[in-house]
Amino acid sequence: MKVLVFNGSPKRNASDTMYMTRAFLEGMNSENNLDIKTIDVIDKNIQFCRGCFVCKRNGGSCVIKDDMKEILNEILCSDIIVWSFPLYCYGMPANLKVLVDRTMPLSSMAMEKVGEHYEHISEHDFSNKRYIMICGCGFPSSKNNFEAMIAQFKLMFGEEHSTIITVTESPLFNEKEALPVTEPFLEVMKEAGRQYVSSGEISPDILGRINTPMIPEEIYTQIANSTNS
Ligand SMILES: Cc1cc2nc3c(=O)[nH]c(=O)nc-3n(C[C@H](O)[C@H](O)[C@H](O)COP(=O)(O)O)c2cc1C
Repeated sequence: MKVLVFNGSPKRNASDTMYMTRAFLEGMNSENNLDIKTIDVIDKNIQFCRGCFVCKRNGGSCVIKDDMKEILNEILCSDIIVWSFPLYCYGMPANLKVLVDRTMPLSSMAMEKVGEHYEHISEHDFSNKRYIMICGCGFPSSKNNFEAMIAQFKLMFGEEHSTIITVTESPLFNEKEALPVTEPFLEVMKEAGRQYVSSGEISPDILGRINTPMIPEEIYTQIANSTNS
């Protein structure tokens, strides 16, 4: 099984979110020997989509010659795509959004109604692909924070093909003093990865633990404000 990881954090390996993603992948890999490839999106040459739609008339070939050609091929030959990124302004970071826009050549101009919304008909068979979103954020609450990003992810990849993991208080992963709470949390992420690869889903118990803030939100806010003010 081929797993493609997009690291959308501009902090590369120091990404708070990548701590969780690495733990999740470790859990996945302990169940199955996976072929995992990670792409640090920030280091790729990906220009903005020009909106010309030439790709739709050109057999899926984009007029821009940059790293996207290789990335589209990686997407096509992967079974599972992990989108690991921090929440930026209630959405994904701009460098990752540029990549997403440039996946336009993978679908045709023709559109169809899927459920209650329209989408372009794919030029390829995506029915067996699975998508995982692992998104960390800096605030201590998910409410009125992750909703827009979750909705966008489900619209892009289809709810039935998507697994969504959102984690508040993510800057804790880069704090040594927080190890007593981050280490057990990363064990839960490993278990999530194990479950995902063996059954295709994560149990409500594990998801519940992932969705529980590592430290109470009032205390996190106090610490954050005293450190940063
Ligand atoms: C430009 C910018 C926008 C952000 N917007 C949000 C936000 O909308 N909600 C939130 O909870 N945190 C927000 N954050 C905080 C990051 O999500 C948080 O620091 C995260 O842990 C960074 O993850 P990374 O190290 O994987 O990049 C923002 C940070 C930046 C730099």
